[in-house]
Amino acid sequence: MIKIPEYVQSLKAYKPGNLMDLSDLKVEVKEWIKLGSNENALGPSPKAIEAIKEASGIVHEYPDPGAGGLIELIAEKYNKKSDQIICGNGSNALIQHIVNAFSDVNDEILTASGTFVGILVNTWKLGRKLNLVPLKDYTYDLDTIAEKINPKTKIVYLSNPNNPTGTMFSKEQLEAFIPKVPKDVLIIFDEAYYSFCEELDRYPNGMDYDLPNMIVLRTFSKSHGLAGLRIGFAVGPEDLITTLYKVKFPFEPNILAQAAATAAIKDDEFVKEVVEINKISLKMMMEKFDELGIKYVDPTANFIMILLDSEDLAAEFAKECMQYGIIVRHVNSFGVPNGVRINSATVGQTEYVIDMFEKVYKGI
Ligand SMILES: Cc1ncc(COP(=O)(O)O)c(C=O)c1O
Repeated sequence: MIKIPEYVQSLKAYKPGNLMDLSDLKVEVKEWIKLGSNENALGPSPKAIEAIKEASGIVHEYPDPGAGGLIELIAEKYNKKSDQIICGNGSNALIQHIVNAFSDVNDEILTASGTFVGILVNTWKLGRKLNLVPLKDYTYDLDTIAEKINPKTKIVYLSNPNNPTGTMFSKEQLEAFIPKVPKDVLIIFDEAYYSFCEELDRYPNGMDYDLPNMIVLRTFSKSHGLAGLRIGFAVGPEDLITTLYKVKFPFEPNILAQAAATAAIKDDEFVKEVVEINKISLKMMMEKFDELGIKYVDPTANFIMILLDSEDLAAEFAKECMQYGIIVRHVNSFGVPNGVRINSATVGQTEYVIDMFEKVYKGI
């Protein structure tokens, strides 16, 4: 009999939601409106699509293991050295590599109780322990997190803005927190949604902090629309990045992902449009929620979390939206039992979904 470590036995395999047949819905819809995974409403950057087509002829080759061309562009854009950057199969894979490289079985990873599931799964998967601090007003409680750091803590994970709440802590709050973290505790600063809030004065840009114990994560999955290709990058001190190269897969990210990201990173126009549409869509949603008296948390990313009166109502709201061809995410597994996360859409889609949200809300 094969012996499976207990921490692996207790995991649950990722199970995507079961999509109903469109013909079984209450209304006639041609395709699903997917607002449940914080994907890009506008699709991929057109420049990336061109680059993918071009690179498709060389997929018989292994990719550049160091993603050199892309890393040079990232270094130039953020004024960093190439040796401070590593690319991986999305920030989710990079989180796994970081937990793997900088902690041991039974070490503790400290974070908030209502945050990105990727850190939870990557911690459990590697047999590390989680230490979770409740959110305060749906935001990271940095003071309590600092108090909870103990000799077993090896990593503190911060997602800013946070998923699923959409809240952001400020530059001032981050700068008060940093000195409280011992230098032998690593901070993962996950900025998956930075494009949607970087214009805000209070936004603490991770790229501005060159700390010996902080790694910043960015992804091409959100504002660049490349979620399906799985590509992201980490920026940090050279010694930590050198260590990460020891645990990453030699040929991640794949050749199409590298080509697409190399084009997308130059496509500022596209990102600008994405950010603009996001603002419009979320504003339309907020106006509708205000009209209906639905509570929500002020968004700073590309999604909004609404709060129903109970976990059951949140589950029912999400389930009932499907009857109208709309997929939203009940975020109980993210630590907010009565929350439903809805990402921004195109203006046309938003006009439709807000009408349907009204129907669903009044019917549950
Ligand atoms: C905070 C946060 N980090 C990372 C990710 C995953 O990014 P990637 O697609 O690069 O793995 C997500 C995806 O939803 C996220 O919300």
